[in-house]
Amino acid sequence: MTRPAGAAASDLPAPAAHAADVSRALSTRIAGTIHDSGGWIGFDRYMQMALYEPGLGYYVAGSRKFGADGDFVTAPELSPLFGECVAAQCAHWFGSAQAEVVEFGAGSGALAAQLLAALQALGAAPGRYRIVELSAELRERQRELLAARVPALLDRVSWLDALPPAIDGVVVANEVLDAMPVRLFRWGDGEIFERGVASAPDGDGFVFADRAADDAFAGRVRLALDEAWGACGEPRGDFVSELGEQAEAWVETVGARLTRGAMLLIDYGFPRAEYYHAQRATGTLMCHYRHRVHADPFLWPGLQDVTAHVDFTAISRAARRAGLAMLGYNSQARFLLDCGLLERLSSRPRDDARKWAQQVQAVQQLLSEAEMGELFKAIAVGRDVPDDAPGFATRDRRHVLE
Ligand SMILES: C[S@@+](CC[C@H](N)C(=O)[O-])C[C@H]1O[C@@H](n2cnc3c(N)ncnc32)[C@H](O)[C@@H]1O
Repeated sequence: MTRPAGAAASDLPAPAAHAADVSRALSTRIAGTIHDSGGWIGFDRYMQMALYEPGLGYYVAGSRKFGADGDFVTAPELSPLFGECVAAQCAHWFGSAQAEVVEFGAGSGALAAQLLAALQALGAAPGRYRIVELSAELRERQRELLAARVPALLDRVSWLDALPPAIDGVVVANEVLDAMPVRLFRWGDGEIFERGVASAPDGDGFVFADRAADDAFAGRVRLALDEAWGACGEPRGDFVSELGEQAEAWVETVGARLTRGAMLLIDYGFPRAEYYHAQRATGTLMCHYRHRVHADPFLWPGLQDVTAHVDFTAISRAARRAGLAMLGYNSQARFLLDCGLLERLSSRPRDDARKWAQQVQAVQQLLSEAEMGELFKAIAVGRDVPDDAPGFATRDRRHVLE
């Protein structure tokens, strides 16, 4: 059993009393699940409960999450120019697909509001904008934001409880794949263990606990590692990382329902060879709590975001299994530049110097290699749409998925 390295609870701002109560209630429920499962659960089960347990999980209980007073900031929260760029790409696809958008995990609703406003300005407002949102609380926040920002288009927006049986249009998901539960593994001396979660021996919280991986899981891990290490060689010591099986299954399922149109997924991650590079020996699991990033998923369960980077090779293969064609893969910076981000910025009024400086700074954050520009990628896959997406016009040899 191992306690995760990294931040200690004392390094982070203490939660308010009612939030701490929610976290304690969730911890009790997780501990009960571990007990009922014989003392061990997979990390995917833990992450599912920490983020989505009804009434208690991070994304479904009422904490602030997005924006300056939350835990992290996403691209649409930074600048409306992000949504304008995505809208330009959607409008292009609308030329050959029906004008419908299905957005998954819409967060505060900022991207939906930007997309609807920008598409309307382009004369391409979608007939329908459907949002698949797991959290009732976030749905309410999204409805309020859309009512305030795009009241005239609100009647085109609907919220779905389950996946739509068929999608004819454009699927958009920004930073959703990284929020899907992952399984953890440890490779050591050629053996593969599944890293799960047990209750701490002193009854105070949770610890990692490794056990021999079952054959199917070990086989998938070996395949991924062999592919990556064929290029860079094996690591010297233990290697811990994740397998994003749920994200792959999601792409395959949603992709199969895309009767015609495109899926645009934006998230942080790498192609497989980089994801499992021998030097990335502690994986990509990260937690966000009040703008602090650390590596302990057991601190305040339910009050912090838990995420893993995306293996884009796995995502493109899942899309292919669903019969979709690759339409583009590039860094977020390249995608936004190809969608005209800088031209859009320079057409903004500069009379308010403070506002202008803020916009420039946000664009810098979206594009900079040191911030979101390179770590974040955009991938587009589709069915029966031409392979001429303007957002992927620059074929960048550094960003290729086989
Ligand atoms: C990091 S937030 C991103 C929110 C928003 N897209 C943004 O860019 O600000 C992740 C979101 O993904 C949602 N999510 C995770 N898995 C999902 C799924 N299978 N279907 C729909 N939403 C999902 C979460 O509920 C949460 O709203």
